[in-house]
Amino acid sequence: MSNVLRLAVVDPNDATRESLKAMLLGMDSVWLEAECSRYEFFADVIAQTHPEIGVVNLDKDPEKALDLVAKVNEASPDCNLLVVSSSTDGKLILRAMRAGAKEYLTAPVKLQDLLDALSRITERKFGKGEGKSRGCSVIAVGGATGGVGTTSVAVNLGCALAKDPKNSVCLVDLDLCLGDCDVFLDTIPDYSLTDVSQNISRLDFQLLKRSLTKHSSGLFLLPRPVNISDIALIKPDDLQRVLGLLKATFTHLVVDLSKSYNALDQTVMQMATHVLLVTQVDLPCLRNVVRLMMSFQEMDGMADKVKIVFNRVGLEQGAISLKKAQETMGREVFWQIPNDYRTMVEVRNNGVPLIEQAPKAPVTQAIIGLGNALNGEVSKPAEAPTEEAKAGKGGLFSFWPSKK
Ligand SMILES: Nc1ncnc2c1ncn2[C@@H]1O[C@H](COP(=O)(O)OP(=O)(O)O)[C@@H](O)[C@H]1O
Ligand SMILES: [Mg+2]
Repeated sequence: MSNVLRLAVVDPNDATRESLKAMLLGMDSVWLEAECSRYEFFADVIAQTHPEIGVVNLDKDPEKALDLVAKVNEASPDCNLLVVSSSTDGKLILRAMRAGAKEYLTAPVKLQDLLDALSRITERKFGKGEGKSRGCSVIAVGGATGGVGTTSVAVNLGCALAKDPKNSVCLVDLDLCLGDCDVFLDTIPDYSLTDVSQNISRLDFQLLKRSLTKHSSGLFLLPRPVNISDIALIKPDDLQRVLGLLKATFTHLVVDLSKSYNALDQTVMQMATHVLLVTQVDLPCLRNVVRLMMSFQEMDGMADKVKIVFNRVGLEQGAISLKKAQETMGREVFWQIPNDYRTMVEVRNNGVPLIEQAPKAPVTQAIIGLGNALNGEVSKPAEAPTEEAKAGKGGLFSFWPSKK
C-alpha cells in the first residue's frame, strides 16, 4: 500500500459524510482508515490510527470543529488536516489555517478540488519529484509510422506492468479512428473514451472504473469510440481531466497514441512521464524519427521525455547498424525489441498478450525489461541483436543534420 494515502474523516452530518466517503472509497490512491460522527472522539481516533490526512467538516459546529483542528494539530503534527466547509467567509478560512489546517475545501466537495488538495499535501510531504513511488507514471506510446508495432508495444507493456501486483495499470486507446487495443485483448468494451470524456464532470472514481474493461491480466482498458463520428466529441480539456482522474487511480497509464500527433496526442504527451517513440530500423522510419524529434524539440520539455524504442530488430538483415541509426537520429536508442513475427501474429490473432501466450520468448522478455527500465529498476538497455558488421556503408543519411 505504499501508493496509498491513509485518511480519517469527521463529520457529524451523515449525508455529507456519506457523500465524501463515497468519493473517497472510489479512489485507489486513498485508504479510508476511519470515519467519525462526533468531533469529541476524533483526536483519539487520529492518535490511535495515525492517518496521513485528517478531514474535518466544520459545518455542524465551526467553533467546536476549529478547537478540534488546533488540538489535533498539536497532538498529532504528522497528520495533515484538510478542512471542509460550505462557508466561504474569509475570516473562517483564516481561523482554520491558523488552527493548523493545510487545506480548505468548500462544500459540496468537488472531486477535482479534492484531488488537487491531496496532491498538494503529497507534494509537501514527499517532495515534488517523488512521483515515482506515489504518483502515476504516464507512458505515451507513439510510432514513427503506421505498422511499426506501437499498439503491440503499448498493449504488451501494459499487460507486463499489470502482472506485478504492486501496479494498477490502465491502457487508453487514443488511436481514435483505427485503434485496435480491444482486439489485441479480445474484449468487447461497453464504454469508450467518448462516453467517459463527455461525462467527466459527473464521474467519480467508482463510475470511472465501471466504465473501463478489465482484462484477465489485470490491465484496465479505455477503448477508442466505436463510431468515427464520435471522435470529434473528445476535446483536449476533457481528455486532460479524464487522464487526471485516471492518474489518481492507477500507478501506470499507458496510452497508445494515434499516428497524427494531433492536439489530443499532444495533450497526453505533455502530461506524460515517458514518451516512447517506436520505430523500425529502416530508412523511411528513421527519417520520420528525425523529423518528429525536430518538432518535439520545439515543445517545452518534450525532447527530454522521448525515448526511442527499436522494434523488430534483426528483421532487415544487413541493413542499418545501431551505430549508424543512432548517429542519424542524434539520439541513443533506449530499448530494443527483437523481431518475432510468428509469436506476434499468434498473440494478435488469439487476442492474448505476450506474457500469457509466450512468457519466455525473447520478445516478451524485452517488453518486460522495457517496463522495468521505465520504472527505473534497470538502467542497461537490452543488447542489440544486430552487429556492427551490418553497418550500412557511406553517407546513407548524410543529408540529415546530426543533432545533440
Ligand atoms: N517485435 C515484433 N516482431 C514481429 N512482428 C511484430 C513485432 N511488433 C509488431 N509486429 C507486427 O507488426 C504489425 C503491426 O503492429 P501494430 O502493433 O499493430 O503496429 P502499429 O500500432 O504501429 O500500427 C502486427 O502484425 C504485429 O504483429
Ligand atoms: Mg496501432
